[in-house]
Amino acid sequence: MVTLYNQDLKNFNTFRISALIEKVIVIQNDEDFKKIDFSGIINKTSVLLGEGSNILFVRIPKEIILIRTKGIFKSYENENEIHFTVKAGEIWDEFVEFLVSNKFCGLENMSGIPGTVGAAVINNIGAYGEEVSKYIYKVRAFSILQNKQIDFFNSEIKFEYRNSIFKNNTEYIITEVIFKLVKGINCINVSYGNIKDYFNTKPINSFNMRHAIIEERRQKLPNYKNLGNAGSFFKNPIISKEQYQNICSEYPDLPCFIINETSYKVPAAWLIEKCGLKNYRYKNTGTYSHPLIIVNFNNATGEEILEFSEFIREKVYNRFNVLLEPEVIIY
Ligand code: EPU
Repeated sequence: MVTLYNQDLKNFNTFRISALIEKVIVIQNDEDFKKIDFSGIINKTSVLLGEGSNILFVRIPKEIILIRTKGIFKSYENENEIHFTVKAGEIWDEFVEFLVSNKFCGLENMSGIPGTVGAAVINNIGAYGEEVSKYIYKVRAFSILQNKQIDFFNSEIKFEYRNSIFKNNTEYIITEVIFKLVKGINCINVSYGNIKDYFNTKPINSFNMRHAIIEERRQKLPNYKNLGNAGSFFKNPIISKEQYQNICSEYPDLPCFIINETSYKVPAAWLIEKCGLKNYRYKNTGTYSHPLIIVNFNNATGEEILEFSEFIREKVYNRFNVLLEPEVIIY
């Protein structure tokens, strides 16, 4: 465990919100969990962070606790399948790169997503037709209240679209994730959008999929190193069939993804764009050319970004009667 004092929060969140943080505790191994006083997590003066890539700081915490535990171990193998136990502080995209280069399939569509392995579970990250929950066998978490590690099997984690029991909870800290993956390079999902177009001249395999996804992301999404952001700010709303039909009667081009007979998922980016809020500037913040991404143009504060997100929600609600829900965690 390492403790740092008087640090700039800007270095620990991808929205690049700046503020002085009195104390930063860095967890480096499993023994550290038993040594740290986590009472600040319970009373919400302290915040746990991986890479800080899915959080908006509106208030400023007294203390932050960084999970930086490292390690990737093979924990099971049969003819077709392999399990890896991965420490929560591993960088997500480095783990994906490791799998692709060692010819294990499953996570390649989720290449290039910022953040840590532990945080990927909390938010059930997903991209290009895949969600991480499909590849998780088990999660080990440290219970602050019980002062011990507890195992959760996949079905106990209650994964949903960008949600799990670990989101907005103050008891558990994910310490390890056990992934189940397929051996080989050919079990590829090209069902999403125009991803297939990348393979007109190349074989469909996990190496080429990783390159295609990284290129697609580079073209459409801002790099937080140049322009602070936390990926999609809102979830894509799930609306009823009636509501979908109502909107379609005025806007027949509304795209949708049918979840079941009564529920349809529609793109928040489309709703925001139709409100004239693509590439929109609001004080020091605004939307990117992909309007689901709110960016920090110039030392924006968390309050300013929250205020802008409320402005977007109101515009979308007034026009479509659909209430957007934030996807990022608001502190
Ligand atoms: N669209 C517009 N205008 C735009 C961009 C998109 O109208 O400028 C509409 C189009 O109809 C397009 C649709 O939105 O077909 C979907 O756009 P896109 O494929 O970019 O995906 P998304 O729904 O906006 C989701 C995830 C992303 C993930 C992409 C690709 C959520 C909240 N976001 O975005 O995840 O990368 O799909 O799979 O589900 C993240 O969670 O931070 C994130 C970036």
